[in-house]
Amino acid sequence: MLEAPAVSAGPLTLVHTADDAPGWWRSAVIYQVYPRSFRDLNGDGVGDLAGITAELPQLARLDVDAVWLSPFYRSPQKDAGYDVSDYCDVDPLFGTLADFDTMMAEAARLSLRVIVDLVPNHCSDQHAAFQQALAAPAGSREREMFIFREGRGAFGEEPPNNWQSHFGGSAWTRITEPDGAPGQWYLHLFDASQPDFNWDNQAVHDEFERVLRFWLDRGVAGFRVDVAHALVKAPGLPEWGGRADGGSSDGYPGHEAPMFGQPALHDIYRAWRRILAEYGPDRILCAEANVDPLPRLADWVRPDQMHQAFNFPYLHAGLDVRRLRGVITDSLVALDAVGAPSTWVLSNHDVVRHATRFGYDGPAPRDGDGIGIFDHQPDVVAGRTRAAAASMFMLGLPGGAYLYQGEELGLPDGIDIPDSQRQDPTFARTGGERLGRDGCRVPLPWRAAELHAGFGSGQAPWLPQPEGFRELARDAQTDQPSSHLNLYRRILAMRRELDLGRGSLAWLESWCTDRSLAYLNGTTLVVMNVGRDPLELPPGLVLLRSSPAAAETHDGGHQLGSGETVWLNLPLG
Ligand code: NOJ
Repeated sequence: MLEAPAVSAGPLTLVHTADDAPGWWRSAVIYQVYPRSFRDLNGDGVGDLAGITAELPQLARLDVDAVWLSPFYRSPQKDAGYDVSDYCDVDPLFGTLADFDTMMAEAARLSLRVIVDLVPNHCSDQHAAFQQALAAPAGSREREMFIFREGRGAFGEEPPNNWQSHFGGSAWTRITEPDGAPGQWYLHLFDASQPDFNWDNQAVHDEFERVLRFWLDRGVAGFRVDVAHALVKAPGLPEWGGRADGGSSDGYPGHEAPMFGQPALHDIYRAWRRILAEYGPDRILCAEANVDPLPRLADWVRPDQMHQAFNFPYLHAGLDVRRLRGVITDSLVALDAVGAPSTWVLSNHDVVRHATRFGYDGPAPRDGDGIGIFDHQPDVVAGRTRAAAASMFMLGLPGGAYLYQGEELGLPDGIDIPDSQRQDPTFARTGGERLGRDGCRVPLPWRAAELHAGFGSGQAPWLPQPEGFRELARDAQTDQPSSHLNLYRRILAMRRELDLGRGSLAWLESWCTDRSLAYLNGTTLVVMNVGRDPLELPPGLVLLRSSPAAAETHDGGHQLGSGETVWLNLPLG
């Protein structure tokens, strides 16, 4: 039983004590760069590595510890680079390996670590190994690199099982054999252009160990591992009528999904951890593993496996204070039991940005559904206000945090994207029923007065920037003391100064109600008000508020406005 410190503000429930274990990542703020939408230096309308190098000083100024780069490898870009055709080269769209090395040198100069994305579940159908598999006969060594099966039905015309693709439709595609006859089917949990590797085959393990070493030798600080829970499939590929993303649904608990969370995965990550350890203690693995229920996450981050895992339950808890409290407590308790830090996240390139999600009073659109001009529209101002509060609440928590490019600017999703410009495969595979993830991938605004708001000075950005992006440009916000960007800078600077990432967590019960949540981290008290009315603040010295203007309107600053978070210094004793 942990013992809570005494404070005059009332009873505390302690769930996590301060963390002094070695490891930079345990409290790191890691900024996700989505290369095609970050900065376009060569003017082709798509971001590039040179653009990242040029703007890294801005990220250092934001005071993040590391960047995570979404894929920039050779790829036909059918799933924005998560369809890799060569894992050890840079796609010409983004530059060259020399550009990568230049970017790494600049990052090192700025003391920023760089994590890259590893996509081991599937590759592109243009990858040499898949092309060789297509050309080789059924049962060959080449086909064994992937998951080929005969179809069902008298003529093999039915897919081998009922699995569905994340992006809609069957997870199987039938090939035409080299002799022109309709042939076997191959598995793709995502788009048909993304065949799944066969992780029952040692050759696949060998290939990825080579890829890990290739990037470790180039100095990366580690890997974010794409769909890390999917690599191994249950023997016999049994039928599954549950959700394609492995979440739980009626009668189909996520932990029973035959394509996720199989026990053999853990040996893969143990082997990878050993490889990383050869490069010293500072290289990390972070699992993109949407495992359900949350305590199972702990299986992934034991000391001999991943260092971190994304916390999707936190992202999905939104502003529901009861759920948030449950997820935070469960995360810290489950991860503490295996000595791992938690991570926290609110946005990424797969979900509607949180400034837009929080613009809805009711439920926001489901991941991957996106928002279009005919949908119920979010309240932009409320969304941005609540997003600031939510970010400030998250960044006070102990553990690591992931930020998604543009959230520091308070960017909303792009909503007015013509169908002809939508590129997420979800849109085409569902016949437009689900709009997909393009809305959160719109290129960033850098300089308000420049062409394309400074994203690039040549062709139009690959997705249109919404009206209003210009005012949110980084340079415009730099000059406004109370801007979203300057709030993020203050939050991150203070988080570092107070060492909150290494801190403790105790719930301050009197401020944990159905409309507010409050925790103490060390001597910093974080209170968020998600209700409609102002709240009386607990005693303490105000350090930072998410809506600075609110201080003037609410009782001389002794109240916390609706949709506001505050950090207070609360002396113990
Ligand atoms: C998760 C990635 O974040 C997403 O963007 C991608 O489409 C799928 N994995 C498939 O690689």
